[in-house]
Amino acid sequence: MKLLEVKNLGVEFHTDEGIVRAADNISFDLEQGEVLGIVGESGSGKSVTCLAMMGLLPMPPAKITSGEVLFNKRDLLKLSEARMRAIRGKDISMIFQDPFTSLNPYLKISTQLMEVLKTHAHTMTYAESKRRCIEVLEQLGVPEPEIRFNSYPHQLSGGLKQRIMIAMSLLLQPKILIADEPTTALDVTIQAQILDLLKDINKKHGTSIILITHDLGVVADLCHKIQVMYGGRLAEQGDVDDIFYRTRHPYTKGLLNSIPSLDIEPGSKLKPIPGSPPDLTALGDFCAFSPRCSKVQEKCRTKRPERTHETGQHVYECFFPYETDQLGNAGDRRVGS
Ligand SMILES: Nc1ncnc2c1ncn2[C@@H]1O[C@H](COP(=O)(O)OP(=O)(O)OP(=O)(O)O)[C@@H](O)[C@H]1O
Ligand SMILES: [Mg+2]
Repeated sequence: MKLLEVKNLGVEFHTDEGIVRAADNISFDLEQGEVLGIVGESGSGKSVTCLAMMGLLPMPPAKITSGEVLFNKRDLLKLSEARMRAIRGKDISMIFQDPFTSLNPYLKISTQLMEVLKTHAHTMTYAESKRRCIEVLEQLGVPEPEIRFNSYPHQLSGGLKQRIMIAMSLLLQPKILIADEPTTALDVTIQAQILDLLKDINKKHGTSIILITHDLGVVADLCHKIQVMYGGRLAEQGDVDDIFYRTRHPYTKGLLNSIPSLDIEPGSKLKPIPGSPPDLTALGDFCAFSPRCSKVQEKCRTKRPERTHETGQHVYECFFPYETDQLGNAGDRRVGS
C-alpha cells in the first residue's frame, strides 16, 4: 500500500542572487515498511524536499511552485498549519540534520520528550507519559534512561543527543520517519550505531523510513530503493539493484565510482566527483550535470532531458544513459548486504 506519494514537487527560494530552484519536479512514493534513501551532494535539495513535505520551510523566502504530497490520499501541501501540526510527529516525524540545534539547551530532556506527548497524546497521564519516554529510551539503548531523562542536553554526548532526537520522533510511533543524516556532527562509529537503530526500528515496527545521506554505502545496506538527486532535480531513481547494477545516469555512476574501495568502511565519505555542484540560480533548460559529465554532448547543454521510465520503478533523466554492457563492474561495488 502506498503510504506517501510525492508528485512533481517544486520548491523555489527567492533570494537577492535570484531564484533558487531547490526542488524541481521531484516525484517518489513510499510503501508501508519501505526504506527510501535520498542521495546527493551538498545543496542538491534533499533536505528542502523533505522539509517541504512536512510544511516546515520558511515561506517566504520559500515558495511551493508545484506538486502534491499525498498521505492517506490527502494532500499535505493543502492542509492548514493546525492540521499539519497534528500529522507532524504523530504520523510523520523527522530527525533533523543537526542534533545540536534541534534540542533546546535550556530545557531538560524530560520536558522536551514529555512536551511531544502532551501535544499529541492528550489522554495520557503524567506517569504513563513518563513510562513511555523511558521505554523508548530503553529501546534505543540509552544507558541509565532515568538519569538521562532528567539531564540537560549539554550533559549528554553527541551520540546520546542524537538518540534523544530519535526517541522524540518515535514516541508516537509514526508511520514514516524521515532521518536527515548528520554529516559532520557525529563520528563514524556513532553514525553506524544510529543506522543500525534505524534498521531495527524498520524491522521491528514496520516504520517506513526516508534516509537522507551522502553515503551510498549506507544506502545499499539499509534502503530498499534510492533516489539520486542533482541540482534540485531527480537524476535517477530505482530499487537498490537498479541503482547499483543497472546504473543509467553518469552522475550515479560517478557516485559509485567515487566509493574508494570495495571494502569501504560503513559511514565513510564519498570522494567528490570533479567539478563543483551547480549554481541553482543559473539552471535553465539543459542537463544540470552536463558541465561535469564525462558523456556530455551538445544536446545536453541546450535541452533538458525528459524522464525515462524503465521497467519497475527505475527512472532517470539523461539523453545518453549507460547501457548495461557499458557498466563495467559498478555493480560489484555494492557494499554491505
Ligand atoms: N532558506 C533558504 N534560503 C535560500 N536558499 C536556500 C534556503 N534553504 C536552502 N536553500 C538552497 O536550496 C538548495 C538545496 O538545499 P538543501 O538544504 O535541500 O540541500 P541538501 O541536499 O540537503 O544539502 P546537504 O547535504 O548539505 O544537507 C541549496 O542551494 C540551498 O542553498
Ligand atoms: Mg540537507
